[in-house]
Amino acid sequence: MAKILVNNNGPLHGEVTISGAKNSVLPLLAATLLTKETCVIEGAPDLVDVKVMKDILRGYGATVDDSNKDELRVSTEEIISVEGNPELVGIMRASIFTMGPLIARKGKAIMPLPGGCTIGKRPIDLHLKGFRALGAEVEEDYENGKIIVTVPETGLKGDVIYLDFPSVGATENILMAATLAKGTTIIENAAKEPEIIDLANLLNKMGAKIKSAGTDMIRIEGVEKLSGSVHEVIPDRIETGTFMLAAAITRGDIFIKNALPGHVRPVIAKLKECNVNIDLTPDGIYVDARNKNLIATDIKTLPYPGFPTDIQSPFMAFLTTVEGESVVRETVFENRFMHVVELNRMGAEISTENREAIIPGGKKLYGAKVRATDLRAGAAMVLAGLVATGTTEVSEIYHIERGYENFVEKFKSLGADIMKVDHD
Ligand code: UD1
Repeated sequence: MAKILVNNNGPLHGEVTISGAKNSVLPLLAATLLTKETCVIEGAPDLVDVKVMKDILRGYGATVDDSNKDELRVSTEEIISVEGNPELVGIMRASIFTMGPLIARKGKAIMPLPGGCTIGKRPIDLHLKGFRALGAEVEEDYENGKIIVTVPETGLKGDVIYLDFPSVGATENILMAATLAKGTTIIENAAKEPEIIDLANLLNKMGAKIKSAGTDMIRIEGVEKLSGSVHEVIPDRIETGTFMLAAAITRGDIFIKNALPGHVRPVIAKLKECNVNIDLTPDGIYVDARNKNLIATDIKTLPYPGFPTDIQSPFMAFLTTVEGESVVRETVFENRFMHVVELNRMGAEISTENREAIIPGGKKLYGAKVRATDLRAGAAMVLAGLVATGTTEVSEIYHIERGYENFVEKFKSLGADIMKVDHD
């Protein structure tokens, strides 16, 4: 099993360029199923999750041309199957994004129960609530591990859908399904993440009529058909946050190119509270943590524009190293503290109660054998390893490779002592 080995090599310094957003490119690729014509997605990151999504699309009949590394050309002239491949769906939860497009274009979707990071129960009831509201029949066959969604002869019909929680995936799935429904759909309490706006931008270029994406009330006027388009993926705000924290935890300075400050405002605000210097420039974000007097802060994760749950574990790794006690409260997922056990193996002494973690701070971390318990927790372990004494050995790094492009290479270019090894 592959592992990442990290040694403390002092403050990181230099420039890093942010890749296209994983959480944008996956729904964008799913959206290409909505048309017979060719869609070109530019700036797609080279990630395991993207490879999986390409294979899932191919299974439905798409032709995916990835011969040019700067763009993915996807054409699905005919949908030849509406059933997700259980093996692929089992390894990536984002496969469920194809359900909305499949029911909109083909009137049916059969989806094996999804997999992905094990961060809580992660049900899909809100996605299904949306499909039902649009007139689809949903059969939840848990015995055979499948969900079958069938659209009546008369097609999908717009409605008002209230989401009990502003779920990112449910908003995206319903948005895609509603583009080809008859009449108007309104999604109330919709998620407001930048990735939703990115998806709506592509869909509108394809001929959809979506208004107010990025607010909590999205209005979609259904259209007869969508056409091909060209679209560039937005920069990855979670990768941006991860490198901001790499500068902070190593007390280094990093210029993060292609980062959009507007997408990481809570991370900027919280790092400033800890006394990290941050300069915003038209080309990116400069993070300077060479001031050694960094202090504690509290964090509460929330849907966008609140503090992102995906940056919670990397931020916690950083908080173990500053003076004073911090409290981290996770409100988005019910089981996203698995990295605490791993950080404690390194000497962090974090305690948890329900959804709250108390980080005493000011700890000297020691290299240890730790697991990447999920994608972002994996990044947190590497960050901790950058400042620990001795070698940190991170296993289960397939999680990291699902979501970070050229992870090891980017850290090396900033001066990190880090390597991937493919053997035990
Ligand atoms: C997306 C992101 C993920 C991020 C998360 C929250 C992608 C590919 N992944 O995941 O990186 O951590 O947003 O910002 O974009 N929920 C329900 N019922 C549903 C759907 C969700 O109860 O039908 C709950 C979940 O269990 C969770 C919360 O809502 O507690 C947030 O989930 P959601 O916003 O849907 O996250 P994802 O779209 O899965």
